[in-house]
Amino acid sequence: MAESMRGLHRTHRCGELSANNIGEQVTLMGWVQKNRNKGGLVFLDVRDRSGIIQVVFEEGKSERELIEKAAGLRSEYVVAVVGEVKRRSGAVNPNIATGEIEVVPKELRILSESATPPFPIEEHSKTKEELRLKYRYLDLRRPDLQRNLMMRSQVATLTRQFLAEEGFLEIETPILGKSTPEGARDYLVPSRIHPGSFYGLPQSPQLFKQLLMCSGYDRYFQIAKCFRDEDLRADRQPEFTQIDMELSFVDVDDVIDVNERLLAKLFGEVLGVEVPLPIPRMTWREAMDRYGSDKPDIRFGMELVDVTDVVRNFEFAVFKGAVENAGTVRGINAKGQGSMPRKKIDKLVSFAKDYGAKGLAYIAIQEDGSVKSSFAKFMDEKQQKNLIAAMSGEAGDLLLFAADKNKVVWDVLGALRVELAKQMGLLDKNEYRFLWITEFPLLEWSEEQGRYTAMHHPFTMPMEEDLQYIDSDPGRVRAKAYDITLNGNEVGGGSIRIFQNDIQEKMFEVLGFTKEQAYSQFGFLLDAFQYGVPPHAGLAYGLDRLVMLMAKEDSIRDVIAFPKIKDASCLMTDAPGAVDEKQLHELGLSLEEKEKVLEE
Ligand code: AMO
Ligand code: AMP
Repeated sequence: MAESMRGLHRTHRCGELSANNIGEQVTLMGWVQKNRNKGGLVFLDVRDRSGIIQVVFEEGKSERELIEKAAGLRSEYVVAVVGEVKRRSGAVNPNIATGEIEVVPKELRILSESATPPFPIEEHSKTKEELRLKYRYLDLRRPDLQRNLMMRSQVATLTRQFLAEEGFLEIETPILGKSTPEGARDYLVPSRIHPGSFYGLPQSPQLFKQLLMCSGYDRYFQIAKCFRDEDLRADRQPEFTQIDMELSFVDVDDVIDVNERLLAKLFGEVLGVEVPLPIPRMTWREAMDRYGSDKPDIRFGMELVDVTDVVRNFEFAVFKGAVENAGTVRGINAKGQGSMPRKKIDKLVSFAKDYGAKGLAYIAIQEDGSVKSSFAKFMDEKQQKNLIAAMSGEAGDLLLFAADKNKVVWDVLGALRVELAKQMGLLDKNEYRFLWITEFPLLEWSEEQGRYTAMHHPFTMPMEEDLQYIDSDPGRVRAKAYDITLNGNEVGGGSIRIFQNDIQEKMFEVLGFTKEQAYSQFGFLLDAFQYGVPPHAGLAYGLDRLVMLMAKEDSIRDVIAFPKIKDASCLMTDAPGAVDEKQLHELGLSLEEKEKVLEE
């Protein structure tokens, strides 16, 4: 039977108590973690989001009725306990914060009962994620998730504080808007009042924040929900949160400066981790050449080595073919992996193929200095020696090579490098290595669309010195764009914006937009730029990704209260779901047969 909490007031959270409270009378409320009945002696663990406290009901100290009531409690009942904090009579538990103390109760109320939960509410759950997500409200009771969400809240609070102190204004922008230009697919919302018309949910507040600069707000930020209909991965959700900002009258260094101080504050205050400033910067080109990635994990080396010139004259068709096709041959040296069994190397080859490689060539240097290689017969002794020297190969090393177009070679070796680091245990989650990536290409060629697309978005400013190539060699133009990366993750990105109409028009032209198309999509922004637009720039963090790394989790689902799964559905609410005929009718919509849609 549920009892009322009338007359009681919670005085503390369970985990807030310590030896300092010994002798105090406290009122605690929380969930029953477990109770152990030793016959006349009941140990009750009560849990709330701050931690767990032990309550001891003992014959002679507590009334018999109270002991019986405690013995009858079951997991996840909600209880109130009034009692005195005492030093533990039994063994101290060094594993919990309240391990030195216990509460000796004089009152126990059952505020609500609980059915048997479908899985135990405990740290480091072994329960399958699908089941946990179906009962997310129970999963969220687990201490690891509670810590993550508390950390997320702290990050948001500190961010607001810091940015407010730096003169930023928090301004909300619409969720029901027009299609935005971040390059993913939009989520659409049908309009009832305008049948046949749709709102687009924002992929980011990009256009609105630029308009706010035009309106003179000069420093804006928002913790903004963004929506992107794209394929999900461990670090991607269809709706996610950005710490989004925009600043007027600034250049790259100003944006970087305020953001470095923000990151230093967050990591210092939340984790006690010092972020050495300034954070190093690397151009996109250098990052690709050295790490095969525009978000390199610099916690370890294993850098790519360009050996094109060394292997140019090898009789190996694979290398020859790549060189002749304007490609390159590059390698990485997996130190101490020379005795890797053939089967494991084959796995690396198929891993490389998943990233677009046609194959992966290797030289395994044995401890005795002899060599096993997939292309031994295509090089003479001297050539082999030169190649090993170019790779700084020593006894016991495994050298892996990819030959192809640059982009493929980078992708393959970039991914392989991280995979090997995982296998070799080189990744320390306690180490945080930030890196700015700058001077991104402005454009990238899309094979699919047969045209250039904006690498960041169409409002990103080209570097002045490269503007001369915009017609003759658009792929060569670099952008005033920057990403902030952490341990191999892109946690944020931004750019200096175009604020001159002629450059903006040129940009649309290169992207293959007619003037009319550009106007129909972004006319309001282009119009706004007619009326006095300040030079401006900005950046947005993926808050979920940032907190994921701070919390040392592998998935952003673990730092989002109610995340979606891979197919973008919610296992708890069953969203998305069908709607009734009447709603469709009001919206002027009719549905095609499901089979017909799926066929396409
Ligand atoms: P961008 O598209 O790079 O830039 O996004 C900024 C950051 O948002 C995070 N992010 C995501 N996180 C989770 N799930 C997703 N699906 C997802 N997509 C992106 C990433 C990324 O670095 N308007 C520009 C910013 C600007 O130019 O100011 C923008 O949205 O961490
Ligand atoms: P093959 O001549 O196709 O039997 O390949 C000989 C060796 O070269 C094998 O170890 C292949 O995995 C490897 N290989 C094939 N294509 C490539 C490539 N593009 N880059 C690096 N190695 C390759």
